Amino acid sequence: MSIIILKIGGSVITEKGSVSRAREAEIDRISREIAAFRKDSDSQLILVHGAGSFGHPQAMKYRLSEGFDAQGAYLTHVSVKVLNSRVVESLNNAGAIALPIHPLSSCLLENGKIIEFQLGQIKVMLEKGIIPVLHGDVVMDRIKGASVLSGDRIIPYLATALNASQIGAGSDVDGVLDDKDIIIKKITQYSFVNIKKNIKGSNSTDVTGGMLGKVSELLELAKKGISSRIFNASRKGVVSRFLYGEDVGTLIEDK
Ligand SMILES: Nc1ncnc2c1ncn2[C@@H]1O[C@H](COP(=O)(O)OP(=O)(O)OP(=O)(O)O)[C@@H](O)[C@H]1O
Ligand SMILES: [Mg+2]
Repeated sequence: MSIIILKIGGSVITEKGSVSRAREAEIDRISREIAAFRKDSDSQLILVHGAGSFGHPQAMKYRLSEGFDAQGAYLTHVSVKVLNSRVVESLNNAGAIALPIHPLSSCLLENGKIIEFQLGQIKVMLEKGIIPVLHGDVVMDRIKGASVLSGDRIIPYLATALNASQIGAGSDVDGVLDDKDIIIKKITQYSFVNIKKNIKGSNSTDVTGGMLGKVSELLELAKKGISSRIFNASRKGVVSRFLYGEDVGTLIEDK
């Protein structure tokens, strides 16, 4: 059975310039695209969503990247969980059965690197036709106390651990753009050397590296022979096209 891993960026489902503001209509539209695909396909689907304005401003306020802050960890987790509940509710309302999985309760980090990730629950959900919905989160870290684990880092981990066949990250841009704002159709570790200077963080608050962080994570995955795509989930129908295997956005590949 083939596994699809889809990440929907916080830039799509929240207003990243604000604090804790969801884009309800966007969440519902994407849920409908996912639910329609589920009726057509028996692929197994894992959804990961970014934290957007429900995580980045909070993590920034409590300086979670700089050091341990118990209250900051609590408040950031509680906030992103509100967004997660909204996404899960929306999927179920659209007719796709989905359940939440919080990385805080299922992962352990060491200096930001994932060293434990409970896959058992995810596997049973997939077997039962349920969409596990994970998200960027604050996660306990053996060295740092707690660290931010981005959705962008969860995708390559799960893709490798579960041998997924289709991996995509939807954001609010048409793909990775060059210096003239034209979509770069394909990035490899070799071409990255020259285009890296044009790939930046985010225009909004983003503690996990924005587009550069995303491309870097997905290039590491590509080195293991697993390709992925970065596309615009803010444009109607593009999530659906990705799910159906169409050539959308930027392909991140080994060679
Ligand atoms: N070369 C580039 N091509 C495309 N986007 C770029 C580039 N350089 C920087 N960016 C920025 O990266 C942003 C997307 O990354 P960002 O981390 O904000 O979104 P996200 O990952 O979808 O959200 P979240 O982190 O909340 O899940 C774009 O909105 C754009 O401002
Ligand atoms: Mg991001």
